[in-house]
Amino acid sequence: MLIRAIESSDAAKLRDCHARCSPETQYRRFFMHKPHLSTREAEYFCNVDMRSRGAVVASDRGSPGDIHGIGQWDRLKRGMAEIALLVEDDLQGLGVGRRLLNAVIDHTRALGLRQLTGSILAGNDPMRRLLETSGYTVSMGEIDSGVQFFSLLTVRGEGRPVPGRHAAS
Ligand SMILES: CC(C)(COP(=O)(O)OP(=O)(O)OC[C@H]1O[C@@H](n2cnc3c(N)ncnc32)[C@H](O)[C@@H]1OP(=O)(O)O)[C@@H](O)C(=O)NCCC(=O)NCCS
Repeated sequence: MLIRAIESSDAAKLRDCHARCSPETQYRRFFMHKPHLSTREAEYFCNVDMRSRGAVVASDRGSPGDIHGIGQWDRLKRGMAEIALLVEDDLQGLGVGRRLLNAVIDHTRALGLRQLTGSILAGNDPMRRLLETSGYTVSMGEIDSGVQFFSLLTVRGEGRPVPGRHAAS
């Protein structure tokens, strides 16, 4: 699996990736029933400057146009960014999410952003475990109306995570 910066031409493939995901994966990412990404949404996600907003995608080495996962960030104020991840169901549990998260951390750290925040639905154990095993300082907020806020501090000196049990390459 190749992890690369998203490109403006990726919109159609990003829509395909989203459509292949199960309703649960789509719901965990968008907190709503969302069987399809609209063309406008996909274009918004793909047209980024990689400074105020950016994304990396997981694609096939042999077919780099195809997309199987995405890690996104939106710069907030004061050195913070909001992040979100999605990996297609067939590829979950193989280390792709961890590689996307690490790539998001690398990009945002290079921009001087040291606090990554986001929200997960209560019961989203894969994402919670991914954060907790990232090797960085993670705080999880109280669950409020089924949603849990998280904060990941990627301050210098905090080590790169211990490799997971998978080695998706
Ligand atoms: C969360 C998500 C991105 C993780 O991606 P992934 O490629 O499956 O994650 P990885 O294979 O890299 O696993 C990383 C760690 O997450 C945890 N994890 C992954 N799948 C898990 C599962 N089914 N149950 C519990 N923990 C799990 C493990 O700690 C794992 O580390 P390990 O393999 O070393 O034990 C993916 O499950 C997903 O797309 N979910 C739907 C969208 C979503 O929830 N997004 C988050 C909100 S924005």
